[in-house]
Parts: sequence; structure tokens; C-alpha cells
Amino acid sequence: MEIANRIAVVTGGASGVGRSLCHGLAERGAAAVVVCDIEGEGAAKVAAELEASGHRAVAVTADVSSEADVQALVQRAEEAFGRVDLFFSNAGIIVAGGPEASDEAWFRIWAINVQSHVYVARAVLPGMLARGEGYLVITASAAGLLTQLGSAPYAVTKHAAVALAEWLAITHGDEGIRVSCLCPQAFTSNLLATSRREVGADQLAETGSAGGSAQAAVDGVLTSDQVAASVLDAIGTEEFLILPHPEVAIYERRRADDRERWLRGMRRMQARLSGQG
Ligand SMILES: NC(=O)c1ccc[n+]([C@@H]2O[C@H](COP(=O)([O-])OP(=O)(O)OC[C@H]3O[C@@H](n4cnc5c(N)ncnc54)[C@H](O)[C@@H]3O)[C@@H](O)[C@H]2O)c1
Repeated sequence: MEIANRIAVVTGGASGVGRSLCHGLAERGAAAVVVCDIEGEGAAKVAAELEASGHRAVAVTADVSSEADVQALVQRAEEAFGRVDLFFSNAGIIVAGGPEASDEAWFRIWAINVQSHVYVARAVLPGMLARGEGYLVITASAAGLLTQLGSAPYAVTKHAAVALAEWLAITHGDEGIRVSCLCPQAFTSNLLATSRREVGADQLAETGSAGGSAQAAVDGVLTSDQVAASVLDAIGTEEFLILPHPEVAIYERRRADDRERWLRGMRRMQARLSGQG
């Protein structure tokens, strides 16, 4: 899909890759960008930056884990600009640990990293299907194709996000709906600070040393602008899977080819990172 003259909505637009997407969309000629975030001030700031450089933008405060908020967001975008062509369902958080993580943390990450995408699809699909076109981009993670050392809730919810994106692409692909799924490894953002705010610092004690930094140590850390550029390029070619770190395709293939070997390798990596290997 051509980005020029399109109406776009970005959740998690106040920070990180969401903010970079908002700027990138405006620079590539989107007709308008709706900047959505649970942090209203941050969303307003990004919308003001876009307007200051001559673009049309609106800020909407919404918690994407609330269906009422997602419905109101889409309604606001349609009132302001008539329709939604491109929806970037991008807001997400991380929490640390395994089954022992609190129910509260599990439910919160499930609501933000999975259920929000369901609410988004429910809200935008009717209009898109009626027009016979529309584009939904779901931000998952390389953790959704592989795993996340140190965080079962992140691995599980990101796998679910990939599954939903695939299901939508299969089910609605022949009706004009385009779907892409963003699966990056580490990039610079405020993810840990955001997640601490959402679930409390105690739910994140271990992720700093296990999760993101494990992959970062191997394949390097991109900037959020680089990740956003990969996403916007992929929209031009309508690729489903967006891998800003191309190595992820190799890891996914190895995992599928020999699951036992892959699991052994991941255990070795985990042991190395915790200083036991
Ligand atoms: N940073 C990484 O290394 C990395 C790697 C892979 C995937 N991701 C994914 O990228 C996405 C964007 O994260 P980021 O790294 O740019 O982090 P970030 O914290 O900088 O940005 C996320 C934004 O989402 C907003 N947000 C959080 N919960 C929300 C909610 N309930 N409703 C509305 N907005 C909410 C936050 O306020 C924040 O502005 C997430 O889905 C994350 O899981 C990040």
C-alpha cells in the first residue's frame, strides 16, 4: 500500500517505535496521523511536533487494553478524517519471570500485548471490509517467533500476537485486508520504564539481565527510527513478516528444522548469560 494520502493510527505513539512511526508516516506523505497513547501528554507532544512541521495530526489518550477506549479511538479518527486506512497496533509491555509472576502481571500483559489487537481488529475491520481495503500492522517481537529468556509472559503473549496476525492475514487477505507483523529484536526505546509504570518495578527485576540484552549482545541494538523505517518500507511491498534484524529468519528456520537442538542452544545461552555456562 502507498502511504501517501492515507489516514494512519498508531498506538503507543508517544514513545519508542510508535513515535518513530508517527514521524515516518508524516514524512512519507500520510494525509493524517492519529497519535494514540495511554500517556496523553506524550501523545499530544508528538502530535504537536507533526503539526509544527506542517502535517495533520490528532492526539488521543486511550488505554488499548480497554475495548471502550479502542472503539472511541477509532470513532475519533473517523470523525476527524473520515476513515482509517492504516492501523499500527503497537503498544506493548514486558514483565519478568515465569509461572510464578503474579496473576496481575500476567493479566495486564495479556490485555495489552494480545487482547488490545483483538479489540483493534474488531473496531477497524468492519470499515475496512466495507471499503475492500485496509492495513493492520501488529507489533509482536522476535520473542513471538523464538522465545524471551527471563520472561514467559512476554514470549507467550508475543507468540499469541503473531498467531492473531497470521489468522487475520489468512482469513481476510482475499478481502483486501493487508496484515503485517513486526518482529524485531532489541531496539532503543523506553520499554522498561513504560513497563515499570504499567506493572510495577518488582515485575521487571530480572528482564534487564536476561531478556532484551541477551539478543542485543548477539545481534546488536537498532534505533527505533531504523525499526520504523523497516516497517514503512515493508508496507510498500505488503510483506507480512517484518524482520528489522534479518538474523531472526535464520533462527526461526533452525528452530523449525531441529527443535531439540534449538532448545539445547537456548539453554546454553541462558546459562552463559546467568554466568553458569
Ligand atoms: N524495544 C525493544 O527492544 C522491543 C523489541 C521487540 C518488540 N518490541 C515491542 O515494540 C512495541 C513498542 O514498544 P517500545 O519498545 O517502542 O516501547 P516504549 O515504551 O518506548 O513505547 C511504548 C508506548 O506504548 C504506550 N503504552 C503502554 N501501554 C499502553 C496501553 N495500555 N495503552 C496505550 N498505550 C500504551 C506507552 O505509554 C509507550 O508510550 C511493544 O509492543 C514492544 O513489545 C520492543
